[in-house]
Amino acid sequence: MKKSPQEFIGSFSFDNRLAPYDILGSVAHAAMLSKQKIIPAKDAKRIIKGLNSILNDLEKGWHLPEDEDIHFALERELIRRVGDSGKRLHTGRSRNDQVATDIFLYLRDHIQMVVQEITRVQKAILTVAQKNQDVIMPGFTHLQHAQPILFSHHILAYAWMLERDKGRMRNAFDRADSLPLGSAALAGTSFRIDRKMVARFLNFSRVSENSIDATASRDVVAEFLAACAILMANLSRMAEELVIWSSVEFSFVYLSEEFTSGSSIMPQKRNPDVAEIIRGETGRAYGALISLLTVLKGIPLAYNRDLQEDKPPLFDAVDTVMGCLSVMAPMIESMEVDPIRMRVACESGFLEATELADFLAEKGVPFRAGHGVVRQMVLYCQERGIKLKDLSLGQLKKFHPKFDEDALLILTPERVVNAKKSYG
Ligand code: ARG
Repeated sequence: MKKSPQEFIGSFSFDNRLAPYDILGSVAHAAMLSKQKIIPAKDAKRIIKGLNSILNDLEKGWHLPEDEDIHFALERELIRRVGDSGKRLHTGRSRNDQVATDIFLYLRDHIQMVVQEITRVQKAILTVAQKNQDVIMPGFTHLQHAQPILFSHHILAYAWMLERDKGRMRNAFDRADSLPLGSAALAGTSFRIDRKMVARFLNFSRVSENSIDATASRDVVAEFLAACAILMANLSRMAEELVIWSSVEFSFVYLSEEFTSGSSIMPQKRNPDVAEIIRGETGRAYGALISLLTVLKGIPLAYNRDLQEDKPPLFDAVDTVMGCLSVMAPMIESMEVDPIRMRVACESGFLEATELADFLAEKGVPFRAGHGVVRQMVLYCQERGIKLKDLSLGQLKKFHPKFDEDALLILTPERVVNAKKSYG
């Protein structure tokens, strides 16, 4: 789209979603200016009343007249509503510390929302795990049958991955918990402002220590985007697994109808679109991180207008992550697990082989030697199209004299699973 230079510089089209945070920051700033007697109390009162009336109207769906960016748009509207008092609001402040504050307010709010949504997915995982507590499935490595495991063990692995995602989110929250306002353009201000009062008002636990850093840094946004990218990697793996598991070949799970869609040509199809789109949207979240890191890498101190390019990736990542989490939770919760298909799958792939090697090791055979013995047994069975449990005690003993009746007993997936004693 063609643009005039003025349109090109503008950011209102995307940063207007900061409006409630910008207003909140301005209310705190005006209250502080008044308490410090930097502006007359009656002007501060009018400013705060005006800002609240704008916020009210915005909440009702009213549209703020467009300006270069959200900060100018709100200031102009404030002056239109309250007159000359509004012209005092920007005392001792710059758009640079203002926008940095808006971003941190926005971040803290949205990190909390993301953490809540992650918890919903964890709860959904816990629900299916509990519903299917005793279901046994083949565990995979390299997508090859490895050892029998509990389905609940497998699915709960994702809950733990998500727990670390929450930790990364909380780290980003903590880093964003430092108030930039009061740093002005870069150098601070000669007005006797009270930054700690503003911090208390806005619920920040500390104020920034270096005004140049506070106005020119966006690494906290990058940190949040990195946390989003990793979260999406985890969600994408889970989504991929659901795609595989819901295929005809696996049929381990059935996704509830609303999370699938039909084909325009093939009448029989139920495609796992929701899981696929989660997997696909992961690309967006990665892109957001890379785009911000690339914006940041060449910027000298302090504020440069390039920093305005922090917002599109930030907002896009938040939308992406919130969207994916909000469909993931009900998709998991409503999916049906097929214990029979999972159990049948345990019959192939020699899942008990490791347990047999462990058996020999417990009888004093060095593990590496036992591993070789069982490898031979598997080859023997493969050639004859039989399973390990089809071998008689006599045949077992031919492979190794230390095999006894107990060895026959462990040759079911249930026994193998129950034999596991290690923590975790
Ligand atoms: N829209 C700008 C941004 O998002 C606001 C800060 C403008 N500051 C300036 N010195 N031009 O970064």
